[in-house]
Amino acid sequence: MSSKRIGIINSGGDCPGLNAVIASVVKSGAELGYEFYGFIKGWEGLLDPIQFMKLDSDAVRGIAHLGGTILGTVNKGRFGAKAGEGNSRQIPEDVLHEARDNCKALGLSGLIVIGGDGTLSGALQLMEAGVPIVGVPKTIDNDLQHTDRTFGFSTATQVAVDALDRVHTTATSHQRMIFVETMGRHAGWIAIRAGLAGGADAILIPEFPFALEDLVAMMQRRQAEGRSATIVVAEGAKVHGQRVHEGEALDREVKLGGIAQYLIRAIDEMAPDAFDMRATVLGHIQRGGTPTAGDRALAKAYGVAAMKAFDQGKFGQMVIYHNAGMGTIPLADAVGSIKVVCPNTMEYETARALGVFVH
Ligand code: F6P
Repeated sequence: MSSKRIGIINSGGDCPGLNAVIASVVKSGAELGYEFYGFIKGWEGLLDPIQFMKLDSDAVRGIAHLGGTILGTVNKGRFGAKAGEGNSRQIPEDVLHEARDNCKALGLSGLIVIGGDGTLSGALQLMEAGVPIVGVPKTIDNDLQHTDRTFGFSTATQVAVDALDRVHTTATSHQRMIFVETMGRHAGWIAIRAGLAGGADAILIPEFPFALEDLVAMMQRRQAEGRSATIVVAEGAKVHGQRVHEGEALDREVKLGGIAQYLIRAIDEMAPDAFDMRATVLGHIQRGGTPTAGDRALAKAYGVAAMKAFDQGKFGQMVIYHNAGMGTIPLADAVGSIKVVCPNTMEYETARALGVFVH
């Protein structure tokens, strides 16, 4: 495989900034004489029946500020490599070979793969099957190892802060306890950052288990002072050490969600009719729409860095943003475990020092 034709794959959940990555890969690569095939709906487009669109500078003009992805995406399918928190699954050999053979038949010199830990675990397996690959980290959850920030995280966080600003005024007017449920899967990055910025009274995240009794005591204190409370809860937070989820998702991890309502029921059982409680679930609003300035700039930087890495033959590497600059690390180091909030995380330390219930 030595042509100047590159395949672009984005797979997994969409993410604000994806189009900006695609556009900057294509624009910077066109300058170097490359041409691009963008596969439709992620890995599915690379498997039979193959589906792709040719991408050149004209095709990607004016898309960088748009949410979603012009290529479409799926987070399930034959290439599913995710099997739980930080774990990956072996993709069947015949599927890997089909993808490899299709790359060859299309005359691709390799792939630029934009994805989270599941997608990148798949990329690693395809790389081992013989396809040169450069990876780009993508997730609103910000939970990928070795990269300081993923694009999409800033937008998701801003959506949550905007929601908190609105929830505050209604919670205060009614002296209510309002739970705001954020995404983030098994990491609390969106919740902790949005909760800190948005002035939440409590922030509940997967990394720091809390006792329901302590939360209720905090709510009782506020109630006695005639105050409301705004409580940010990450979808992956654990109650009594258990996650709350809506059910098993098809061929991938459990589908998280529902913890805000669960907490309201549990607190009402513990302290019947003590509080006037409501839940707001932000859901996919956090993933849709226009990327923030920070996400657009970061996404463009990732796109240019990925193209540069590919041109330099740095296959099996993932581009990273670290210490305010772009770099690369082996894909194998990026997958297999997730980046979580720690006691010395800036947002966590700050929230604690300000008296926020973070436990
Ligand atoms: O990983 C991104 C993410 O938005 C998580 O925060 C969330 O748990 C999950 O994807 C939702 O996935 P789906 O779009 O399949 O509901």
